[in-house]
Amino acid sequence: MKALILSGGKGTRLRPLTYTGAKQLVPVANKPILWYGIEGIVAAGITEIGIVISPETGGEVRDRTGSGDRFGAKITYIRQDAPLGLAHAVKISQDFLGDSPFILFLGDNLIENELGSFLDRFEKKQLDALILLRPVENPSAFGVAKVDDAGRVLGLVEKPKDPPSNLALVGIYYFSAKIHEAIAKIEPSARGELEITDAIQKLIDLGQPVESEQIEGWWLDTGKKDDLLSANQIVLDAQVATDLNGELDEATKIDGRVRIGAGTTVKNSLIRGPVAIGENCRIENCFIGPYSSIADGVTLLDTDIEHSVILRDASIAGIQQRIVDSLIGQRAKLGEALPRPKALRFMVGDDCQIELV
Ligand code: TTP
Repeated sequence: MKALILSGGKGTRLRPLTYTGAKQLVPVANKPILWYGIEGIVAAGITEIGIVISPETGGEVRDRTGSGDRFGAKITYIRQDAPLGLAHAVKISQDFLGDSPFILFLGDNLIENELGSFLDRFEKKQLDALILLRPVENPSAFGVAKVDDAGRVLGLVEKPKDPPSNLALVGIYYFSAKIHEAIAKIEPSARGELEITDAIQKLIDLGQPVESEQIEGWWLDTGKKDDLLSANQIVLDAQVATDLNGELDEATKIDGRVRIGAGTTVKNSLIRGPVAIGENCRIENCFIGPYSSIADGVTLLDTDIEHSVILRDASIAGIQQRIVDSLIGQRAKLGEALPRPKALRFMVGDDCQIELV
């Protein structure tokens, strides 16, 4: 069994962050989203992992993630010259995959469930595809499956206007090598992509065994800001234990579960967990509220913040209002020059969103 993680794509829904970086490297609780997927795959006993990367962000993904040693895996990077679809990404990975069955894992997805239990069913029943499904309120925004009572998949439709069920496809699939034959038989869709849903539909049409499993735990597709903040909240809740490194002065108060990295100094601040703070940050006269992740090298001065994700080396100083539900990019600078500013002065990159609420 091998695994193929897709970490290319355009990432349009997370612009402007994805102009300069891979969306799969945006951190959740200060760890790149992609790494949760790698860890989940290794926990299921799979150590041969291919990662599909794009020409634009692939270098960064490879430099940060490495050869796989840190995960106990062997990682092979596969370059996809253009984001021509999930099935296209599988197609260009055939040399790596060979005849092996594999898990296809979308690199911006996070699930609570362990991958191993589904793997047992896939292997025991000798399926050609096992797909994971989750009931959702707005199925029209997803790939949707029609299944029978035994979980056999009868049909799939991509973003249907009139959904046949409320069961959305989660971005994790188990395939036998038969999927390559199915991919060879499909044509690009109206949006110009080779769709994995079309390839699975082809397997069904050919009479191959395709089954589904409904997942009970949470599933997050972190491709948008609000989903990323939800993922951050859930993972902080589930995983942060108190671990205070760095230097905290006497006036600082820590409430709840808070993780602070080495080299960080905190003065005269209240931090109310769950919160993850990275290394070498400078925090003075701040309130940091629940569900905040502050990456390495961040400076926060006279700032109130909660339910937000701040990326590396950003700095925020002297903003009077509380910052909430925010995602602040690497090296971004937010500040007020005066205690009661009469005007707002911005230099904001393309596709940024600023809301004064
Ligand atoms: P999507 O989130 O569906 O696509 P995207 O990354 O282009 O994002 P957006 O819709 O915001 O423009 O892709 C799911 C995952 O698969 C994601 O991790 C990117 C990856 N991917 C590839 O590696 N190659 C591809 O051709 C496509 C379409 C996606």
